[in-house]
Formats: sequence, C-alpha cells, structure tokens
Amino acid sequence: MEPLTKKARIEGITSNDKRDKVIAVLENLVLSDGDVHRIMEVMEQQIDFANSQQEEDRKRSDLFWEFTYVQGLLKGDEKGDYLGLDLGGTNFRVVRVTFNEGKAETTTKYYNLSQELLSGPAEGVFDHIANSIEKFINEEKMSSDTAIPLGFTFSFPSIQKSLKHSVLITWTKSFKCTTGLGEDPVDMLEAAIQRRGGLSVPVDVVARISDTTGTLMAGSYLDKSCRIGLIIGSGSNACFVEQAKNFKKFEDGVKTSNQIVVNTEWGAFGDNGCLDFFKTDFDKEVDRTSNHVNSFTFEKMFSGCYLGELVRLVLVKLTNEGLLFKGEGSTKLMEMGSLPTSYVTEVESDGPEETSHTTGVLQSLDLTADTEDIALVQAVCGLVSQRGAYVVSAACAVLLNHIDLPEVTIGIDGSVYEHHPRFHGYMMELLEKLVPGTKVKIILVKDGSGQGGAFVAAVGSRS
Ligand code: GLC
Repeated sequence: MEPLTKKARIEGITSNDKRDKVIAVLENLVLSDGDVHRIMEVMEQQIDFANSQQEEDRKRSDLFWEFTYVQGLLKGDEKGDYLGLDLGGTNFRVVRVTFNEGKAETTTKYYNLSQELLSGPAEGVFDHIANSIEKFINEEKMSSDTAIPLGFTFSFPSIQKSLKHSVLITWTKSFKCTTGLGEDPVDMLEAAIQRRGGLSVPVDVVARISDTTGTLMAGSYLDKSCRIGLIIGSGSNACFVEQAKNFKKFEDGVKTSNQIVVNTEWGAFGDNGCLDFFKTDFDKEVDRTSNHVNSFTFEKMFSGCYLGELVRLVLVKLTNEGLLFKGEGSTKLMEMGSLPTSYVTEVESDGPEETSHTTGVLQSLDLTADTEDIALVQAVCGLVSQRGAYVVSAACAVLLNHIDLPEVTIGIDGSVYEHHPRFHGYMMELLEKLVPGTKVKIILVKDGSGQGGAFVAAVGSRS
C-alpha cells in the first residue's frame, strides 16, 4: 500500500522541514500491506479461539461468535403487520412492516433518548421504549385482535440463549446504564410494558437480535446475494451467513439448517492486545477518556462515537507541535468531544480543489486557518477515515473468505457509512485487493437494523 496516500495534500505544505515533522506525527496512522494482512491473520486466530469447544480457548478470544438462532430469511409469502424496535444507536426507533403481496411497506419513527436516560437505571430506558411503542401504535392508528409479532433489535453484546432470550454482558457506545447487566433484554422490555399497564394493541416479542442481524435480513430482502450485515454507526459489528458445519463451538453442532447467522461482536476485537502492533497514541487516548475504558478497541478505531475524537487528538498534537494554526488552536479544539464525527464527514465532502466544507467546520471550532492549515486538516480527516475503512475491510475480507462464494453483497447500516462521502470508496479500494476472487458489492441498508427486527418477527412467528 502506498505510504501516506493523501501525500498530495501534505505536499501542499511548502517547507520541507515542516512536511517532515507532519509526516512524523501522521505516519503511524498509515497501514502497510503487512499490517493489513496481519490484521486478517490475527482475526482468523481469534475466530478459531472463539469457535472452539474448549472454554479455555474461548476465553482467549475477544470475539463472541454467537449463534443468533436466526435460521431463515423471508419467503415472500408473509402477510400482515410486524413490529421492530431498534435500540443501540443515537436514536431509538419503532418500525412497522406491513407485507402486501410479498412487498414490505415500512414506516419508521424516531423517539430520542435523553443523555440522562443513557446513564441512569436501565428501567428508565425500557419505560421510554414501552411508552414510545404506545405512541407509535396511536400515531399509526394500529388495531389488531391478536398480538402483533415484534422483533427487538437490541445492539449490545449479549449471550444468545434462544431466538427470544439472551443475557446482556455489557453496555457499550454512549450507553452507561447503572443496571441491566446479566439480565434478559426481552424480560426487561416485557416488564416495562407491564409497568405501564400494557399497550393498547398487544405485542408478542418473538425475537431479540443484534442490529447486524437486522441489517443482514433487510439487506437480503434488497439483494439476494447479501451475506454480511455490517454496522458502521455509533459502534461497529458484523454478522454473516456461515455454513452450519463450520460452527464448531456447540458440541452437537447446529443441525436445524445448513446455513446459520453468526454474530461476531467484533467491536471488542483487539481488547486482548492482539491489535497493539498498529495502535497509535491517539487510539490509546481515545480509549482512556471513553465511557468504556480498556474495551472495544476495534470499533474505537473508526466508529461514530470515536472517529471525530481521534481526528481532534491528531489536530491537537499538530497544533501543540506548532504545525497547525500557528501553534495556537482554540479553546474549543482543546475540549474533549468538541469535534463530532459529522465534522469529519463534512471535511471529507470537499473535492480535490474545494475548501468550503472544511472552512465551515474550522469556523465552528473558532479556528483561524490559512491555506496550509486547511490542507492539513483535510489530510488528517482523510487519513483517519481511510485507516478506519481499511481495518473494517480487512475484517470483512476474513468473513468473505469464510463465505467463499464468487459474488457477495455486504449490507451496511449506520451513520458513518451512510453520511461519509468516501468510506464506501476506501472500502472498495482495499476489498478489491484483498479478495480478488470475489465480486464484492456494498449496499446501504438504511434503517435495516430496525426493519430487520420486524422481518425476524415475521420469520420467527411462522407457524
Ligand atoms: C457495539 C455493540 C454491538 C453492536 C454494535 C453496532 O459494538 O456492542 O452489539 O452491534 O455496536 O451497533
């Protein structure tokens, strides 16, 4: 891989001395071919451990490699109404899917969760969910004599016990609730519905899935070749369609179907130090100041909760070394969290000769910038984003090797992938090199995580 792919922009810096100093700060953010291949090797090792029947081995892996109990896709003959709930990202969503002659009509509504709820007792979050379902039922003027099947997309690492039941292992992303660990998300939901005296239309919670599974289901509705459901939003994770015979973790295997959906929970990949070989001081600092310290190494390298902060730390370093903003910066730039990921996508929206988006972002941060500053900020956003897209592509390449089909579509949901103008291109660039034998397509599956919840409800409630 070319060193400093964005070199052209860095070459906009006229002084050789300054350019050398800038490169010294940024070069660790550039992955070599060797790094990318090592990421793939390390991930394969972690999969072997996670997929082992020996508990000792499983403990050595950062991946969950969970059997999702989802063993079927839509058949096309589904009828009627299904509900999906989507908890895990910036917004809580309620989704209604109505099947009409095989076509799914979807309505999605957002019910924002306050910061206060995210760090209070879990009951508060679940009460909000139950009240939002009731609001949705009223706004949608829903009525039904029988309970409406509901799929709950609950996107936090959980051990799956059956299609419906699971145990929450840890909160992640911006959730830091004081209770809920070790509990079953569906039990917590049903208890909240009871606390409010039920709903005006009864629901039957048939499944708990992760947003990755929802995205895979919704992706396969759009494109029959979809085999990977990927989230690049506040956090990151992937699930994929694996051959049941390769799922070795259960002593008796999975005999109910030939193909199964495995949830990798790869957000925590690297927590045991296996990715330390390319971790930068910026990554360490993001971790140190995050909600969940010493965990979720992989997703902290590129997902929405962290990408902006990573860029901010690089800019602060360059400023402190006198290489940006005449060494002065601004009070805002020095504040943790002042550069959200949306600013990075904004900067990345500028074309080769453009600066307007970048200038707007710098103004919001009270920064006065000259032409070289603007070029350097663009280079940093490009490098950090590209590294993110590359690590996620290396991990996707491992899954594509497992799937081993000539044509595979990756369905992606999540704010970073949706809004970042170059993430798709960066990913395709690397995937074409890493899996030359597979024709890879990447599609946006907007709101797929919640819609997929309703799809799983339809599949799971099939009699
Ligand atoms: C975090 C969660 C994981 C989820 C992902 C994407 O990594 O732990 O369960 O799927 O974010 O939202």
